[in-house]
Amino acid sequence: MITLGIEGTAHTLGIGITDGECNVLSNVINMYKPPEGGLHPREAANHHADIVAETIQKAVSDAGISLKDIGLVAFSKGPGMGPCLRVAATAARALSVKLSIPIVGVNHCVAHVEIGNATTGCNDPVLLYASGGNTQIIAFANGKYRIFGETLDIGIGNMFDKLGRELGIGYYAGPAIEKLAREGDKLLDLPYSVKGMDMAFSGIMTAAVSLSKKGHRLEDIAHSVQETCFAMLAEVTERAMAHIGKDEVLMGGGVAQNMRLRNMIESMAEDRGAKMFAPQPRLCIDNGAMIAWLGHVMYDSGIRMSMDDTKVDQKFRTDEVDVTWR
Ligand code: FE2
Repeated sequence: MITLGIEGTAHTLGIGITDGECNVLSNVINMYKPPEGGLHPREAANHHADIVAETIQKAVSDAGISLKDIGLVAFSKGPGMGPCLRVAATAARALSVKLSIPIVGVNHCVAHVEIGNATTGCNDPVLLYASGGNTQIIAFANGKYRIFGETLDIGIGNMFDKLGRELGIGYYAGPAIEKLAREGDKLLDLPYSVKGMDMAFSGIMTAAVSLSKKGHRLEDIAHSVQETCFAMLAEVTERAMAHIGKDEVLMGGGVAQNMRLRNMIESMAEDRGAKMFAPQPRLCIDNGAMIAWLGHVMYDSGIRMSMDDTKVDQKFRTDEVDVTWR
């Protein structure tokens, strides 16, 4: 069945179309970039609302199909920013009614796992999900995807963005920080904030800003921030793998594109006889194809939703999803 998926949890409006074998027929990704300052949910939602109709048309045309070929519409029900989620949900409901096709609302974090499972060849991984809004270590155990560790304050990507703004290197600063870090060689002292299986990132940002005020090179600060934060992620991911006995680790989210993070996770995995998997970049970041695919998987397993079930849920937890398809 051909499924159209609408992603709209935060900065990205994504429309993806998949078939029943997880072939991605199209995957249009449009990221909102604030003209200045940080991401404002209402402004991001206005951006999504302005372009959602034309983006759906583009995805349909890229896929080489027509609207009547679509058998199911899926959308990101949560977690995320309320105004953005409502744009995605409203567009999905409109398509469902107009085309008389079923609708399924999906959990964004679980979508990252399932697109990885379907496209990388991994089977039962621990997902290291590192993005702007989310930082979680997720794995399937006892009938649900469970969160084994997560940030206690902000997502790691959000921290990179805030740090980028403080240091004057722009917003969506992850790639700029990665580039600077390659030129850094001094490991500066930053708080290593692992608390049990959880992590905290905002104190690291405050400490990094104060290092900058003391005159340290941006390159050394970027290097030290990456080394510290990625070591924290690797430690928690490794402990989750050891605790539940999994030998696969899957990367997901925008920060999972960072090559230094991938190298650290890959060598951690190799040291314990495990394997790292990473979806191709456009399926790793927020995108509509992963929403379409999870919608298909859920529908295929018998899940049906009425319009009443399509209310968005900003705090939709990964472990609230009944995983009926595994
Ligand atoms: Fe995401």
